[in-house]
Amino acid sequence: MAELDLDSILEFTIQLAREAGAMIKNGQERRFASGASEDQKLNSVDLVTEVDKDVEKFITEKIMAAYPDHKFIGEETYHGQELTDDPTWIADLRSPIDGTTNFVHGFPMVCTSIGLAVKGMPVVGVVYNPFLEQLFSAAKGRGACLNQGTTLPCTGDRPLASLGEALIIADFGSRRSNPQYKSKMDTMYIVGATPEIGGKMAHSVRILGSAALSICYVAAGMSDTYWEIGCWPWDVCAGICILHEAGGAAFGTKSRPLDGTVDKEMLMGRKYFVIRHISPTETETTFEAQQRLAKEFLDCTD
Ligand code: IPD
Ligand code: CA
Ligand code: CA
Ligand code: CA
Repeated sequence: MAELDLDSILEFTIQLAREAGAMIKNGQERRFASGASEDQKLNSVDLVTEVDKDVEKFITEKIMAAYPDHKFIGEETYHGQELTDDPTWIADLRSPIDGTTNFVHGFPMVCTSIGLAVKGMPVVGVVYNPFLEQLFSAAKGRGACLNQGTTLPCTGDRPLASLGEALIIADFGSRRSNPQYKSKMDTMYIVGATPEIGGKMAHSVRILGSAALSICYVAAGMSDTYWEIGCWPWDVCAGICILHEAGGAAFGTKSRPLDGTVDKEMLMGRKYFVIRHISPTETETTFEAQQRLAKEFLDCTD
C-alpha cells in the first residue's frame, strides 16, 4: 500500500466531519419540528435516530470513494473482527452521532468523530461539535488544534500534582444491567466524594455523554482526565489521536502495562483512562506524572 499522505487525509476528514456535522444540526431541527422518535438498540437507553442513519450513509460513501483500499471498523458493522495493520477508518458507522442521547434531548454535547488507525495506532482524528462550533483535529506528528487555529492544549501551562486538584470526566455508557455499572458508580464515588486518592477528593466529576468530546476536552486542558469502561474504539480513536498530539496520554485497564502505548489490543480493549498534558516539574517528567496519576486512579477500579 502506498505511503499515506496524512496532510491530505486530515484535510479530507475535516471537510467530511464539517459536512456530517451540518447534517446532524439540520437533522435535529427537522426532528424537533416533526416530532420524530428514535429507535432503541440494546435497551431503552441505547438509541439510534434516522439522522444517524443518513449520516452513516454519507460518511461511508465518501470514505469508500476517496480511499477504496482502506478498511472500516464501525458500531454496526463490527462483529468481533480483528483490527489489522491496514489503514482502518474507525467511526460510529450506523450511528455516527457520538452523544445520541444528548442529540435526542437537545443537549449540545453532540459530535461526529472520525479516526484513521494504522497498525492499531490512531494517526488522524477529527471530532466536530456542530452545536458549539468546536472542531478538534490532529494528525500524527502535526500537533492538535481547535477550530483549525488554536493549538492544544489551549488552557495554559498548568501543573497537576494530584487528582485532588482534578476535574474528572467519567461516563456510564449504555449497558445499565452490566455488573460493571455498580463498580463504575463506586469508582466515581471514591474519586468524587472521598479523599482516598491523591489525599483529597477531586474538584468534581462530570458526565458529558460523548466519549469523543470528553477526550477532546482533556486534550484541550479544559478537563484533567476522562475514564470509562465499556466504550468502543469508534468512540475514542479520533480523540486519542488528538489527545496524543496535544501531549496527553491514554492508558487501558490497570492490568495492562502503564507505558502509554496505544496498540490494537489497547484500542479494542474498551477501558480507557486519559489524562491531559502536565507541565514537567523538577522532580517528575510529564509522562512520569501522567503515569503516577493514572496508577492512582486505576488502583480504585476493578
Ligand atoms: C456513547 C457516548 C457515551 C459513552 C458510551 C458511548 P453513542 O456513544 O459516547 O458518552 O458513555 O460508551 O457508546 O451511543 O452516543 O454513539
Ligand atoms: Ca452507541
Ligand atoms: Ca453513535
Ligand atoms: Ca459513540
